Order: sequence, then structure tokens, then C-alpha cells
Amino acid sequence: MTQIAYGMVGGGPGAFIGDVHRKAIRMDGLAVLKAGSFSRDSEKSKAHGRELGIEDDRLYSDYREMARKESERADGIKFVVVVTPNSTHFEICKAFLEKGIHVVCDKPLTWTVEESEELERLSREKDLLFGVTYTYTGYPCVKEMRKLVSDGLLGKIRFVNAEYPQEWLANPVDESSPLAPWRTDPAVSGASNCLGDIGSHIENLVATITGLKIERVCARLDSLVDGRTLDDNASVMVEYAGGAKGLYWSSQIAFGYDNALRIRIFGVKGGLEWCQEDPDHFIFTPNGAPKQIFSRGRDAFSAEAQRYSRIPSGHPEGVYEAFANIYKPFVEALAKKLDGKKLEAGDLDFPSVGAGLSGVRFINRCVESNKNGSTWVDM
Ligand SMILES: NC(=O)c1ccc[n+]([C@@H]2O[C@H](COP(=O)([O-])OP(=O)(O)OC[C@H]3O[C@@H](n4cnc5c(N)ncnc54)[C@H](O)[C@@H]3O)[C@@H](O)[C@H]2O)c1
Repeated sequence: MTQIAYGMVGGGPGAFIGDVHRKAIRMDGLAVLKAGSFSRDSEKSKAHGRELGIEDDRLYSDYREMARKESERADGIKFVVVVTPNSTHFEICKAFLEKGIHVVCDKPLTWTVEESEELERLSREKDLLFGVTYTYTGYPCVKEMRKLVSDGLLGKIRFVNAEYPQEWLANPVDESSPLAPWRTDPAVSGASNCLGDIGSHIENLVATITGLKIERVCARLDSLVDGRTLDDNASVMVEYAGGAKGLYWSSQIAFGYDNALRIRIFGVKGGLEWCQEDPDHFIFTPNGAPKQIFSRGRDAFSAEAQRYSRIPSGHPEGVYEAFANIYKPFVEALAKKLDGKKLEAGDLDFPSVGAGLSGVRFINRCVESNKNGSTWVDM
């Protein structure tokens, strides 16, 4: 397969996630970085692009110029990766969609539901692929749990309990923080910090594995560090269509925890449990029988999960591979589309703009519930 040219907006010097995206994309060699606008600061952007080996005439000071000029080139980029802070996602994604360029954007997709709806409409009308990098969907164990749940292993789901505790915002942060302090600034982060940044991963992970649709939420968003406007701790009760219930907790003040995203799903026939800090294993406990531990690469996973396992068991796979497992199907689907072939549902095994929209709706409904004194709010 010929390598597909892509561009990046964001991911400049010192940025966190842009570099992870670039390395993950390189893992399979299906796409190659050819253009970029890596920072608002034009000189920094250009210096960074040169270090990445990009030709000078494809280093842009502004994403609008990049979208326009790349769309006019015969060898222009076929997709763009948007890894800027939340406040900018909508305008940047829109600019590329309007120029007919496929998009991958990091989460949360936009600030408002209306913005995400507009991106969904644009990508549909222009027939463009749109991926949203909910990292944890890329793990083979997550793919296998999704398959087992859809095969009926748990029977009817009764309750979901998921948590995402971190400690990195347990104290006030300033500009010297190694992770971007914009997350606590409502002008950049949006109406929520903790829930938008990590609670949104819970919402997506539960939806991915179980297929459950949230009908209503009841949320309490706490700002527990003095002087902080946005939430750094979020507790959400959830009701799903069909009667199941859920409880989600995300926190950035939880001493002792780094990235401890954990999900537990309880059905009438048994329970499943997975933690992203031990991503190669998950636990299934059948009703009336001992716990079983499933290992990536060791037990026979279904073909649809096994295809994402890269090395034999015991050699841990992590976040880079999870990102690569989102990009692989995305780029393969794009290659098929560019070849004029019809895409099947199985080709689209990556979180889409629809998943991004659901996440933004979840965040906004939780913020509304909190403002109303933690009342139940319909999705
Ligand atoms: N999927 C995940 O697990 C995950 C993890 C971390 C971050 N994220 C998301 O990724 C996004 C970026 O987060 P980050 O931690 O890398 O932020 P960051 O602040 O470290 O990096 C953002 C980069 O974007 C650049 N930038 C800002 N505005 C720009 C513009 N208009 N044009 C070009 N470049 C611009 C900045 O100069 C910087 O280089 C956020 O939306 C965040 O929520 C997702």
C-alpha cells in the first residue's frame, strides 16, 4: 500500500500528545507526515517541522492556510490530525472538512453539542472519514471484552462501575507544570476540566464495550483545590436504556493514582473487569465459578481482537500500540476509500465523530445537572 500523506495541527515543542500520535502512526508505516502547523508561534512551528523532516513549503503559520494550500496541491495531505487544546478543535476540524480533507481529532471533540453536530453533518455531507482518538478503545483486551459482551457472555447487564483517578492536579498548578495547565482554564478547557479530560474516556469506554446508551445522568462536579474554577473531581450516576445503571468517578486529586482507569461490568451471568494500567489482562468471573484471567497474546482471542495484538504475551503493549490500533483501521479504511472501494461496517473499527458527539453531549449534560443542584438530566 502506498503511504498516505497526513498533516498535523498542534503537537509543537514540548506538547504532550502530538508526539504520541506521530510515533503511533509510524508504527505501521501506513501514513507519513508531510505538512504541519505545530504551534501558534510561527517560528516555533517551523523549527519543529524542520526537525520532523518536513519540507519548508509545507510548514504553515496558520491552520487555515494549511487547509487551503494542502487542498490545492496534487500531492496534498489526505488527512489531518488535530492535537491542539480543546477550545480550538471545532474551528480547525471544520476548516479541513470544508476543504475536503479527512480528519482525526483528539477528545473532547468540541465544547458544545451543536459544534460536534455540525462536524458530524459536514463529514457526512462531504463523505469524509472522521476519527476521534479515544485511546483506550485501541487495546486488544477492550476489543475482546466488546466481543464477549456482544456474544452474550454477561447476559443482560445490570450495573457498570467505572473510575479514572489521577493525582496530578491535587495541588495548584502553574505555567511550569509538565502537563499543560490550560486544562484548569475555562477559556481553553471548556465548561469542565476533569470530566471533560478523563471522565469522557469513561463514557466512551463503557459505550464501546457494552453498547449501552445513556438515557439520563445525575452529576456532581467538585472543585476541591482552592481557587480552581473548574472541576477536579466528578461523580456521575447514569441510567441506560433497558434499565441498567452506572456509577462513574473521575478525579485528579486522588493521591496514589496515576492513570488508573478501571471498568467493571456486571451482568446476570457474570462480571468483567479491566484496568488500563494492566492493559494486557482482564478478569471474567462467571456466575457461580472462580475468576478467570484472560491474557492478550496467550489465550485465543477472537479474530477481531487478535488482529490488534502485535507481539506474543508477556511483552507488554501500551498506549503507543493502543493509538496505533486506532490509526491502523482508520488509514486502511481511508486507503480503501481513496481507491474507490466501498467501505463495510467492519472497516470502520475506530471511534468516529459520532462517538465524539456522544462524549460532548455527556459532558454538557453532566455540567447542566451539576448547575441544577445535581438533578437528573436527559441525554
Ligand atoms: N486521547 C488521549 O488520551 C489524550 C491524552 C492527552 C491529551 N489529549 C487531548 O489532546 C489535545 C492536546 O492536549 P496536549 O496535552 O497535547 O496539549 P499541549 O498543550 O501539550 O499541546 C498542544 C499543542 O497545540 C499547539 N497549538 C495550540 N493552538 C494551536 C493552533 N491554533 N495552531 C497550531 N498549534 C496550536 C500548542 O502550541 C501545543 O504545541 C487536548 O484536546 C487533550 O484533551 C488526549
